[in-house]
Amino acid sequence: MKEFKRTLITTALPYANGPVHIGHLAGVYVPADIYARYLRLKGEEVLMIGGSDEHGVPITIKAKKEGVTPQDIVDRYHNIIKDSFEGLGISFDVYGRTTSETHRKTASEFFKTLYDKGEFIEKTSMQLYDEEANQFLADRYVTGTCPHCGNPNAYGDQCEACGTSLNATDLIDPKSALTGNTPVLKETSHWYLPLDKWQSRLEEWILKDHTEWRSNVYGQCKSWLEMGLQPRAVSRDLDWGIPVPVEGAEGKVLYVWFDAPIGYISNTIDLVGDDYTKWWKDPETRMLHFIGKDNIVFHCIVFPSMLMAEGSYNLPDNVPANEFLNLEDDKISTSRNWAVWLHEYLEEFPGKQDVLRYVLTANAPETKDNNFTWKDFQTRNNSELVAILGNFVNRAVVLTHKYFGGEVPAAGELGEPELALIAEINKLKDELSEALDNFHFREGLRLAMDMARAGNKYLQETEPWKTAKSDMARTATILNTAIQMCANLSIAFEPFLPFMSAKLVKMLGGDKITWAMLGCFDLVPAGAKIGEPELLFEKIEDSVVEAQVKKLEDTKKANELLAWKPEPVKPDVDFETFEKIDIRVGKVLECKKVKKSKKLLQFLIEDGMGTRTILSGIAQSYEDPSVLVGKEICFVANFAPRKMMGIESQGMIMSAVNPDGTLTVIGPTGPVHPGSQVG
Ligand code: 2FM
Ligand code: ZN
Repeated sequence: MKEFKRTLITTALPYANGPVHIGHLAGVYVPADIYARYLRLKGEEVLMIGGSDEHGVPITIKAKKEGVTPQDIVDRYHNIIKDSFEGLGISFDVYGRTTSETHRKTASEFFKTLYDKGEFIEKTSMQLYDEEANQFLADRYVTGTCPHCGNPNAYGDQCEACGTSLNATDLIDPKSALTGNTPVLKETSHWYLPLDKWQSRLEEWILKDHTEWRSNVYGQCKSWLEMGLQPRAVSRDLDWGIPVPVEGAEGKVLYVWFDAPIGYISNTIDLVGDDYTKWWKDPETRMLHFIGKDNIVFHCIVFPSMLMAEGSYNLPDNVPANEFLNLEDDKISTSRNWAVWLHEYLEEFPGKQDVLRYVLTANAPETKDNNFTWKDFQTRNNSELVAILGNFVNRAVVLTHKYFGGEVPAAGELGEPELALIAEINKLKDELSEALDNFHFREGLRLAMDMARAGNKYLQETEPWKTAKSDMARTATILNTAIQMCANLSIAFEPFLPFMSAKLVKMLGGDKITWAMLGCFDLVPAGAKIGEPELLFEKIEDSVVEAQVKKLEDTKKANELLAWKPEPVKPDVDFETFEKIDIRVGKVLECKKVKKSKKLLQFLIEDGMGTRTILSGIAQSYEDPSVLVGKEICFVANFAPRKMMGIESQGMIMSAVNPDGTLTVIGPTGPVHPGSQVG
């Protein structure tokens, strides 16, 4: 393996058209942060670059919907995103934005360099145009049917159902997202980057030299390369973006996927100035792109082609892209509000940043799509963080306080259990380092947890609460070892659970921790005074996760309501036909469930002439039928009697069908006498 001097970690720049959610975190930011923290603990030179992607059509569409400017939108979400990342402890060295002046300048110069080198092809083509909005429709401004999988809601740049990247003109039956109109074709000219020119170099670089890449990444690249690369437009007819910096390009801006990855460079410049060349151009710097699977082609094919065309930049050494995270078995979606939003989580679960980091890593979608459920969140907190990690540390600290007044006792001669524990932790350290080196973060977290398990097993075997009755010297050795073990856990878990780690380091009176210290059992000196025992994790009650599930159920209902359309009106009927139906008002005297029937309610109705029994199949909509007693309702009085469950029903209760399929009995809105005719 090639040796590098330093590592540049880039993280996909999220679009500033909404807050970030757990899908973004599990896919990109938590793994990148784990890796950056791990390298820093190893004392390596590392930069972690982040920022908001503030151009592109999703932002202008959102602005239009809200009647504000795109700048208003990106200002709002950039701040929410930045603050929430900070709240979760994502340790960016810089978090920039693509509307910054540095970025405009860097991206323009990059384009100009390629332009001057003759790396673009200028081509005129027919593009979709909305005549009412007077605008070309690129990317998400147009929706239609995907030519590959038939999804009727594909976008002009990508089909989210099958993941295929599209051109707007590929869509079947395209519609403008601005007006709903069918667009026309109109001629326009754009600059294209001929990806085909880089095909053989890309094949060599990825397919031959990077066989170690994750199979999902390697496989996607291979299939793109096998299809044969085509020139790709790098400009758009839009008024939001970085103007194309050449004469005669009025009204044209850089395509968002051209400028966004250059954002990694501009943000580095914002951080280190001219020193950016060390991070981007020195072959001894290793570059890693942390991204989600929908960004693979841009980071493995398009951006590298741009970098090769420019000529002086490094190419990424690895692109550890993740698959997707689902939420409660459904695809996470910003537009359907089907997500756990980071800023809301931080508000609703203060002090529980590490719980989310833990659950997202334990379930990281590294090799396949994975699922987040609130039940699993609770179980992992209660049975793993509280019961294994928190429990071990708490026992070690409490017992040290109990038997030694909170002063770390000196260890005597180490016995077999201590030597076994030290050997086990060192073996786990090697495995953990290897897992992290290979971007296997789930596996890494499991190994760190195995260290905590080994700690619990050690205490269970050595039973200091028993030895304390007869042998304080032995008890001292055991608790010294247990406290050293706590220090080891503060290191092993730092990349994953930095808040817990900082708390633990402080509790142990420690200062700086390094990866090299992991596996050592002389980290806390004898005689050191440790802090009062403080719980590292607390149990999460059923009611807490039930409230979150309820929130999602409410979202689902709200979505159903939004998508609901009334049934089409039935064919006309004439007055004589209508008049045949005798609808009356009645008063409910009794209402109860019919035995052995899930569906039927039995009504006793006062109908002005006497009483009558009516059965109605609405039991599933009325948990407590007695709420209907005393109510005035409408019923069909001349509906032919029929027998159900041995009871004769003499009419039909009128009820309305709700969007969720439940039924509501309907009745008069003012005082009416029972028996009155409705018509
Ligand atoms: O998919 C996205 O959310 C893009 N905004 C990612 C951009 S990554 C990079 F190139 F900036
Ligand atoms: Zn499709």
